[in-house]
Amino acid sequence: MTKKQLEESVTYLKNKGFEAPEIGIVLGTGLGQLVDEIEDSIEAHYNHIPYFPLATVEFHSGKLIYGTIANKKVVVMQGRFHLYEGYDFLDITYPIRVMHQLGIKKLFVSNAAGAINLDFKKGEIMLIEDHINLQGGSPLAFKNVAEFGDRFVDMSEPYDLDMREKISAIAKKEGILIKKGVYASVVGPQLETKAEYRMLKILGADAVGMSTVPEVIVANHLRLPIVAVSVLTDECDPDNLEPVNIKEIIEIAGRTEPKMIQLFKELIREI
Ligand code: HPA
Repeated sequence: MTKKQLEESVTYLKNKGFEAPEIGIVLGTGLGQLVDEIEDSIEAHYNHIPYFPLATVEFHSGKLIYGTIANKKVVVMQGRFHLYEGYDFLDITYPIRVMHQLGIKKLFVSNAAGAINLDFKKGEIMLIEDHINLQGGSPLAFKNVAEFGDRFVDMSEPYDLDMREKISAIAKKEGILIKKGVYASVVGPQLETKAEYRMLKILGADAVGMSTVPEVIVANHLRLPIVAVSVLTDECDPDNLEPVNIKEIIEIAGRTEPKMIQLFKELIREI
């Protein structure tokens, strides 16, 4: 990754009309309905944006969408890049750097995750308060990182307190139950074993998924305030573990997404 490449990506998008978005939004697996809320949208397919990671066949629908939600200019990633697809840490976080260069001032992130904390149920939303990186690497471990910001990035409060408080207040007002907790990121794509779920619980995780943490690390590198939510799609109970059902995970993500959209939309309105 070079600054020149980033500039080329940004120039391409600005020429398409991606002018001064205020908020960047990353949509997780099964979470695409927010796109219907975007007014006056302009789309750029990932494969057409210079230096964007080249999308795989199953990922052909990935695109960046610019437009308006609640009177604010947003840029939305419909579909994200995962390590388990064979991309590296720099690839999967490149779009965050591009959105930052486009001018976003805040980043919203969503994902589908499994509930490790068994007080949490599928179909609930967890506001991420902290995370554990179990992906075995960092998107900041590259030679010329200093050209892009600090190398030793502070992670004492990676998720913006002010937006967390605002989301909690919105949830209360709207009557949406939200849980709060720690998200652990693994590489995947295989799901976890019973022993691994036990381990994750001991480590202090409330939810587990295969994304988000690299993007959040880079957003902290860029000093972008972040709010992130997990849509809990399954309960990871090692003593009663059922075989994974990806279809059900995606269905539950879709069914729960309207609550997430409501929270995000209100937060966009308020900030
Ligand atoms: N692990 C377990 N359950 C899940 C995951 C995961 O990574 N993502 C969504 N549900």
